[in-house]
Amino acid sequence: MSAHTSNEKITTTKIQNMKGKGSIVALTAYTTPMAQMMDEFVDLILVGDSTGMVAYGFDSTLPVTLDMMIAHGAAVVRGTTKACIVVDMPFATYQESKEIAYRNAARVLIETGAQAVKMEGGIEMIETVEFLVSRGVPVMPHIGLKPQHANALGGFKAQGRDEEAEELLIQEAHGFEKAGAFSLLVEGVYENAAARVTEAINISTIGIGASPACDGQILVTEDILGLFSDFTPKFAKKYIDLSETIKSVFSEYAQDVRTGAFPAEEHCFGVKKSK
Ligand code: KIV
Repeated sequence: MSAHTSNEKITTTKIQNMKGKGSIVALTAYTTPMAQMMDEFVDLILVGDSTGMVAYGFDSTLPVTLDMMIAHGAAVVRGTTKACIVVDMPFATYQESKEIAYRNAARVLIETGAQAVKMEGGIEMIETVEFLVSRGVPVMPHIGLKPQHANALGGFKAQGRDEEAEELLIQEAHGFEKAGAFSLLVEGVYENAAARVTEAINISTIGIGASPACDGQILVTEDILGLFSDFTPKFAKKYIDLSETIKSVFSEYAQDVRTGAFPAEEHCFGVKKSK
Protein backbone atom coordinates (compact mmCIF):
# COMPACT_ATOMS: atom_id res chain seq x y z
CA MET A 1 0.00 0.00 0.00
CA SER A 2 1.35 3.40 -0.91
CA ALA A 3 1.27 5.94 1.90
CA HIS A 4 1.25 8.97 -0.36
CA THR A 5 -1.72 10.62 -1.93
CA SER A 6 0.37 12.92 -4.08
CA ASN A 7 3.70 12.89 -5.84
CA GLU A 8 4.91 15.87 -3.91
CA LYS A 9 8.33 15.80 -2.30
CA ILE A 10 8.05 15.38 1.46
CA THR A 11 9.77 18.26 3.21
CA THR A 12 11.22 18.52 6.68
CA THR A 13 8.33 20.87 7.52
CA LYS A 14 5.85 18.17 6.52
CA ILE A 15 7.65 15.68 8.79
CA GLN A 16 7.51 18.24 11.61
CA ASN A 17 3.76 18.71 10.98
CA MET A 18 3.04 14.97 11.04
CA LYS A 19 3.26 15.29 14.81
CA GLY A 20 0.63 13.45 16.82
CA LYS A 21 -0.51 10.94 14.24
CA GLY A 22 1.92 8.10 14.98
CA SER A 23 2.13 7.59 11.26
CA ILE A 24 5.58 8.66 10.07
CA VAL A 25 7.12 5.73 8.21
CA ALA A 26 10.90 5.73 7.90
CA LEU A 27 13.58 3.27 6.83
CA THR A 28 17.31 3.38 6.21
CA ALA A 29 18.89 3.11 2.75
CA TYR A 30 22.43 3.39 1.47
CA THR A 31 22.05 2.62 -2.24
CA THR A 32 20.06 3.76 -5.26
CA PRO A 33 18.16 0.49 -5.93
CA MET A 34 17.04 0.09 -2.31
CA ALA A 35 15.95 3.74 -2.17
CA GLN A 36 14.05 3.36 -5.45
CA MET A 37 12.14 0.37 -4.09
CA MET A 38 11.06 2.06 -0.87
CA ASP A 39 10.45 5.65 -2.03
CA GLU A 40 6.71 5.29 -2.65
CA PHE A 41 6.05 3.60 0.71
CA VAL A 42 7.98 5.72 3.18
CA ASP A 43 7.91 9.34 4.32
CA LEU A 44 11.55 9.59 5.28
CA ILE A 45 14.73 7.76 4.33
CA LEU A 46 17.71 7.93 6.63
CA VAL A 47 21.10 7.35 5.07
CA GLY A 48 22.39 6.04 8.37
CA ASP A 49 25.97 5.55 9.47
CA SER A 50 24.72 2.05 10.33
CA THR A 51 26.04 1.44 6.81
CA GLY A 52 29.43 0.98 8.49
CA MET A 53 28.21 -2.14 10.28
CA VAL A 54 25.63 -3.33 7.74
CA ALA A 55 27.49 -2.83 4.46
CA TYR A 56 31.17 -2.48 5.36
CA GLY A 57 31.57 -5.09 8.11
CA PHE A 58 32.87 -2.69 10.78
CA ASP A 59 31.98 -3.64 14.35
CA SER A 60 30.83 -0.10 15.17
CA THR A 61 29.78 3.05 13.31
CA LEU A 62 32.92 4.94 14.33
CA PRO A 63 35.08 4.26 11.24
CA VAL A 64 32.47 5.72 8.86
CA THR A 65 33.76 8.86 7.11
CA LEU A 66 32.08 11.96 5.73
CA ASP A 67 33.04 10.96 2.18
CA MET A 68 31.35 7.57 2.64
CA MET A 69 28.16 9.26 3.89
CA ILE A 70 28.22 11.73 1.00
CA ALA A 71 28.61 8.94 -1.57
CA HIS A 72 25.74 6.95 -0.05
CA GLY A 73 23.59 10.06 0.43
CA ALA A 74 23.97 11.07 -3.21
CA ALA A 75 23.15 7.50 -4.32
CA VAL A 76 19.93 7.52 -2.28
CA VAL A 77 18.90 10.96 -3.52
CA ARG A 78 19.37 9.76 -7.13
CA GLY A 79 16.95 6.91 -6.44
CA THR A 80 14.13 8.96 -4.93
CA THR A 81 11.58 11.60 -5.80
CA LYS A 82 9.22 11.71 -2.81
CA ALA A 83 10.73 10.72 0.51
CA CYS A 84 12.46 13.25 2.73
CA ILE A 85 16.14 12.30 2.74
CA VAL A 86 18.21 12.72 5.90
CA VAL A 87 21.93 11.89 6.01
CA ASP A 88 23.77 10.92 9.18
CA MET A 89 26.79 12.95 10.24
CA PRO A 90 29.52 10.45 11.11
CA PHE A 91 31.52 10.39 14.33
CA ALA A 92 33.98 13.28 14.80
CA THR A 93 32.60 15.40 11.95
CA TYR A 94 30.38 17.66 14.10
CA GLN A 95 31.27 17.39 17.81
CA GLU A 96 34.44 19.51 17.84
CA SER A 97 32.85 22.89 17.14
CA LYS A 98 29.70 24.36 15.65
CA GLU A 99 31.73 25.86 12.80
CA ILE A 100 33.20 22.48 11.84
CA ALA A 101 29.74 20.95 12.14
CA TYR A 102 28.35 23.62 9.81
CA ARG A 103 31.09 23.15 7.22
CA ASN A 104 30.64 19.38 7.14
CA ALA A 105 26.83 19.49 7.22
CA ALA A 106 26.82 22.04 4.39
CA ARG A 107 29.03 19.68 2.34
CA VAL A 108 26.52 16.90 2.94
CA LEU A 109 23.58 19.00 1.75
CA ILE A 110 25.43 20.48 -1.24
CA GLU A 111 27.07 17.26 -2.44
CA THR A 112 24.13 14.88 -1.88
CA GLY A 113 21.01 16.97 -2.48
CA ALA A 114 19.53 15.61 0.78
CA GLN A 115 17.21 17.80 2.84
CA ALA A 116 18.61 17.40 6.33
CA VAL A 117 21.31 15.91 8.49
CA LYS A 118 21.06 13.80 11.62
CA MET A 119 23.50 14.04 14.49
CA GLU A 120 23.74 12.21 17.78
CA GLY A 121 23.85 14.20 20.96
CA GLY A 122 22.47 15.54 24.17
CA ILE A 123 22.60 18.89 25.92
CA GLU A 124 26.15 19.51 24.63
CA MET A 125 24.91 19.60 21.01
CA ILE A 126 22.02 22.07 21.45
CA GLU A 127 24.12 25.13 20.62
CA THR A 128 25.47 23.44 17.48
CA VAL A 129 21.96 22.50 16.30
CA GLU A 130 20.81 26.10 16.82
CA PHE A 131 23.85 27.36 14.85
CA LEU A 132 23.15 25.01 11.93
CA VAL A 133 19.39 25.52 11.77
CA SER A 134 19.69 29.30 11.89
CA ARG A 135 22.07 29.07 8.92
CA GLY A 136 19.86 26.89 6.74
CA VAL A 137 20.75 23.33 7.71
CA PRO A 138 17.74 21.32 8.92
CA VAL A 139 18.77 18.96 11.72
CA MET A 140 17.31 15.82 13.25
CA PRO A 141 19.07 15.21 16.58
CA HIS A 142 19.39 11.58 17.73
CA ILE A 143 18.87 11.01 21.46
CA GLY A 144 18.63 7.99 23.78
CA LEU A 145 20.84 5.10 22.73
CA LYS A 146 23.49 6.77 20.60
CA PRO A 147 25.59 4.17 18.74
CA GLN A 148 28.51 6.58 18.24
CA HIS A 149 28.64 6.83 22.05
CA ALA A 150 28.61 3.05 22.64
CA ASN A 151 32.12 3.18 24.15
CA ALA A 152 31.06 5.90 26.58
CA LEU A 153 27.66 4.31 27.36
CA GLY A 154 29.19 0.89 28.09
CA GLY A 155 27.67 -0.78 25.02
CA PHE A 156 24.31 -0.76 23.25
CA LYS A 157 21.99 -0.40 26.26
CA ALA A 158 18.43 0.90 26.54
CA GLN A 159 18.28 4.43 27.95
CA GLY A 160 15.78 6.35 30.11
CA ARG A 161 15.75 3.68 32.78
CA ASP A 162 14.82 5.87 35.79
CA GLU A 163 13.17 9.19 36.58
CA GLU A 164 16.46 11.09 36.41
CA ALA A 165 17.32 9.64 32.99
CA GLU A 166 13.81 10.43 31.71
CA GLU A 167 14.15 14.02 32.92
CA LEU A 168 17.45 14.37 31.07
CA LEU A 169 15.88 13.10 27.83
CA ILE A 170 13.03 15.60 28.22
CA GLN A 171 15.48 18.41 28.85
CA GLU A 172 17.39 17.44 25.69
CA ALA A 173 14.17 17.25 23.67
CA HIS A 174 13.07 20.71 24.84
CA GLY A 175 16.51 22.11 24.06
CA PHE A 176 16.56 20.69 20.52
CA GLU A 177 13.01 21.86 19.83
CA LYS A 178 13.97 25.37 20.93
CA ALA A 179 17.13 25.15 18.78
CA GLY A 180 14.91 24.61 15.72
CA ALA A 181 15.24 20.86 15.07
CA PHE A 182 12.40 19.59 12.82
CA SER A 183 12.22 16.13 14.36
CA LEU A 184 13.96 13.95 16.93
CA LEU A 185 15.19 10.43 16.42
CA VAL A 186 14.71 8.52 19.66
CA GLU A 187 16.57 5.22 19.91
CA GLY A 188 16.46 2.43 22.47
CA VAL A 189 14.51 4.01 25.31
CA TYR A 190 11.88 2.65 27.67
CA GLU A 191 8.26 3.32 26.71
CA ASN A 192 7.50 5.85 29.46
CA ALA A 193 10.55 7.88 28.47
CA ALA A 194 9.51 7.82 24.78
CA ALA A 195 5.95 8.81 25.70
CA ARG A 196 7.06 11.67 27.94
CA VAL A 197 9.50 13.02 25.35
CA THR A 198 6.89 12.80 22.58
CA GLU A 199 4.29 14.59 24.70
CA ALA A 200 6.73 17.25 25.83
CA ILE A 201 7.53 18.68 22.39
CA ASN A 202 5.72 19.94 19.30
CA ILE A 203 8.15 18.44 16.80
CA SER A 204 7.79 14.84 15.67
CA THR A 205 9.64 11.97 17.30
CA ILE A 206 10.72 9.01 15.19
CA GLY A 207 11.49 5.97 17.27
CA ILE A 208 13.65 2.90 16.86
CA GLY A 209 13.27 0.56 19.78
CA ALA A 210 11.32 3.33 21.46
CA SER A 211 7.79 1.86 21.57
CA PRO A 212 4.60 2.94 19.74
CA ALA A 213 4.54 6.15 21.80
CA CYS A 214 6.57 8.00 19.12
CA ASP A 215 5.11 9.93 16.18
CA GLY A 216 6.74 7.53 13.73
CA GLN A 217 8.96 4.48 13.41
CA ILE A 218 12.23 3.74 11.70
CA LEU A 219 14.09 0.45 11.26
CA VAL A 220 17.28 -0.57 9.53
CA THR A 221 16.17 -2.01 6.19
CA GLU A 222 18.65 -4.90 6.23
CA ASP A 223 17.20 -5.99 9.60
CA ILE A 224 13.63 -6.21 8.30
CA LEU A 225 14.78 -8.04 5.16
CA GLY A 226 16.95 -10.54 7.03
CA LEU A 227 20.07 -9.32 5.22
CA PHE A 228 22.19 -8.59 8.27
CA SER A 229 22.81 -11.51 10.55
CA ASP A 230 25.75 -10.32 12.71
CA PHE A 231 23.36 -8.89 15.28
CA THR A 232 19.57 -8.55 15.37
CA PRO A 233 18.35 -6.01 17.90
CA LYS A 234 15.33 -6.97 20.02
CA PHE A 235 13.28 -4.16 18.47
CA ALA A 236 13.83 -5.16 14.83
CA LYS A 237 11.02 -7.10 13.16
CA LYS A 238 12.36 -9.47 10.51
CA TYR A 239 9.67 -9.65 7.79
CA ILE A 240 11.59 -12.08 5.58
CA ASP A 241 14.86 -13.99 5.60
CA LEU A 242 16.20 -12.82 2.26
CA SER A 243 19.72 -14.00 2.99
CA GLU A 244 18.52 -17.64 2.71
CA THR A 245 16.83 -16.90 -0.64
CA ILE A 246 19.94 -15.12 -1.93
CA LYS A 247 22.22 -17.96 -0.82
CA SER A 248 20.06 -20.51 -2.64
CA VAL A 249 20.32 -18.42 -5.84
CA PHE A 250 24.14 -18.31 -5.49
CA SER A 251 24.18 -22.06 -4.98
CA GLU A 252 21.96 -22.69 -8.03
CA TYR A 253 24.09 -20.39 -10.21
CA ALA A 254 27.30 -22.11 -9.11
CA GLN A 255 25.80 -25.48 -9.94
CA ASP A 256 24.57 -24.26 -13.34
CA VAL A 257 28.03 -22.98 -14.29
CA ARG A 258 29.75 -26.14 -13.08
CA THR A 259 27.33 -28.44 -14.90
CA GLY A 260 27.23 -26.34 -18.08
CA ALA A 261 23.50 -25.54 -17.66
CA PHE A 262 24.44 -21.85 -17.82
CA PRO A 263 24.85 -20.06 -20.17
CA ALA A 264 22.09 -21.57 -22.33
CA GLU A 265 21.37 -20.65 -25.95
CA GLU A 266 19.12 -17.70 -24.97
CA HIS A 267 21.96 -16.10 -23.03
CA CYS A 268 24.41 -16.19 -25.95
CA PHE A 269 24.96 -13.98 -29.02
CA GLY A 270 25.47 -17.03 -31.19
CA VAL A 271 28.19 -17.55 -33.76
CA LYS A 272 28.95 -14.55 -35.99
CA LYS A 273 28.45 -15.54 -39.61
CA SER A 274 31.51 -14.86 -41.75
CA LYS A 275 30.87 -13.10 -45.09
O1 KIV B 1 22.50 4.92 11.45
C1 KIV B 1 21.34 4.51 11.52
O2 KIV B 1 20.88 3.73 10.69
C2 KIV B 1 20.53 4.96 12.63
C3 KIV B 1 19.37 4.08 12.95
C4 KIV B 1 19.63 3.41 14.22
C5 KIV B 1 18.11 4.81 12.93
O3 KIV B 1 20.81 5.93 13.26
